[in-house]
Amino acid sequence: MQTVHTVAELRAQVAVWRRAGERIAFVPTMGNLHRGHIHLVEQARQRASRTVASIFVNPTQFGPNEDFAGYPRTLDADARQLVAAGLDLLFAPSVPGMYPRPLAAMTQVTVPELSGILCGASRPIHFSGVATVVSKLFNMAQPDIALFGEKDWQHLMVIRRLVADLDFPIDIIGVPTVRETDGLAMSSRNAYLSAEERAVAPILYATLAASAARLRGGERNYQRLADEAKTQ
Ligand code: PAF
Repeated sequence: MQTVHTVAELRAQVAVWRRAGERIAFVPTMGNLHRGHIHLVEQARQRASRTVASIFVNPTQFGPNEDFAGYPRTLDADARQLVAAGLDLLFAPSVPGMYPRPLAAMTQVTVPELSGILCGASRPIHFSGVATVVSKLFNMAQPDIALFGEKDWQHLMVIRRLVADLDFPIDIIGVPTVRETDGLAMSSRNAYLSAEERAVAPILYATLAASAARLRGGERNYQRLADEAKTQ
């Protein structure tokens, strides 16, 4: 696996592969990798002849009181996992490399219809930060396909929309969530849970899965479903 830190190095390698007619898959991440990320790389390898991943903790998607400063940065350990997963190229840019001007002066990408609802209602700048950095990464890596976990469903919808609206010639592949044995979705932020929170967290998924099964079975009394879910 080759690791590069600048856009020029990334583009040079991708250009060689493009000239050779290779199909390129891209997995953008913020690092602190777990089995869910490695599964994305494995899926990428099944769909393309070359795989590129990025590790960049993107400041523009964190609100002022969020965990940008404390977000775990584990590049060496991440790189070892990516080597073992058979990745071809890791792009690990610096903040000035990605944002050479003050952030407020940089062009931004916003997906208006999808960014202010659900999770975006309490994280007003988050999805615009994601859309901006993903657009930049797509222009830098110029992949044929890009893979994202379905765990962050709204995130995946925002990325599909920006690809459609901005005409990126990239297929977006959503990959089913990888879970712990008790059902909790794997996430870098699970490390923030206290022992008590970690113990109750799987109940959320179990409850949602049970409600979904009831809906599929024909239940249409939504109030009853909601009331039952609250008692789990
Ligand atoms: O899902 C993530 O890890 C990030 O939002 C992404 C897509 C790498 C953009 O920073």
